[in-house]
Amino acid sequence: MSAQVNPVEYAVIPAAGRGTRFLPITKSVPKEMLPLVDTPAIEYVVAEAARAGISDVLLVSSKSKTCIEDYFDRDAELVSLLRRDGKDKLADLAERGEALAKVHSVRQGEPLGLGHAVLQAKSHVGDSAFAVLLPDDIMHPTSELLAEMVQTRARYGGSVIALMEVPEDQISAYGNAAVEETEDGGLKVTALKEKPAPGTQLSNYAVVGRYVLDPAVFGLLEHQPTGAGGEIQLTDALATLIDLDPAQGGGVHAVIIKDRRFDTGDKLGYLTANVELALEDAQLGPQLRTWLKSLDLDGNQ
Ligand code: G1P
Repeated sequence: MSAQVNPVEYAVIPAAGRGTRFLPITKSVPKEMLPLVDTPAIEYVVAEAARAGISDVLLVSSKSKTCIEDYFDRDAELVSLLRRDGKDKLADLAERGEALAKVHSVRQGEPLGLGHAVLQAKSHVGDSAFAVLLPDDIMHPTSELLAEMVQTRARYGGSVIALMEVPEDQISAYGNAAVEETEDGGLKVTALKEKPAPGTQLSNYAVVGRYVLDPAVFGLLEHQPTGAGGEIQLTDALATLIDLDPAQGGGVHAVIIKDRRFDTGDKLGYLTANVELALEDAQLGPQLRTWLKSLDLDGNQ
């Protein structure tokens, strides 16, 4: 397939979940708005899409999440007050999110699974290839993973998933993939299974929450029966795409992640992300490092 400039125009961010793993804060604050240092987690994800050349983002949201839309909306009054008072750096911060991408939203209505969430993007995306970014997975801010996935789609067509190796006892928490090397050094996905029961895994490759999808996935999701956990699973529709004719949008390739990834859907992963990102912050890093070193972590007097 001949390479195109940037055939992936849209990013879809499923963000309708209630975030029960993060109660009590998620009773009134969406988990996507929890800060990593000083920036809501969702902004890292929108910035990642923007770095891959995608400037149209669709949130698949729910009625308790309107503050995410507000965050990416223009607040002309706040910006003009700050600029009037000469506080241009603060005004720039207030405008930073909205400058990354045009953020739209659609409601999921019922929590029927990731496949169902992605299907809600159908009328926005139409028949274009699109990226899906799960906001519990935060890639390091320098990651070029999504751009590499967009290039992989340009090279092979079809869909592209991101994989990481995990220890055998963790694979049942993820989508699981079997892969084989292509003659030109790429990776072709040969089988996919969502959350395999212990002892039934295909490999140690776990699906990370980044996808570049052919719009053919929508036709499959419309008729996708429920799978693991009684939910409509994106992984199950992708498993069918593996064997579909490339002329009909079939074929799935993989990219192995090289960059750091934080699982911020988990409390420990969230804390780790905050510490690691704060240590890299020019202002906060040196003082935080000194303080961390001063802690007597063994509790000695
Ligand atoms: C989802 C996907 C799964 C993938 C995971 C990555 O699962 O269904 O295939 O491995 O995201 O974070 P969830 O974590 O929503 O249960």
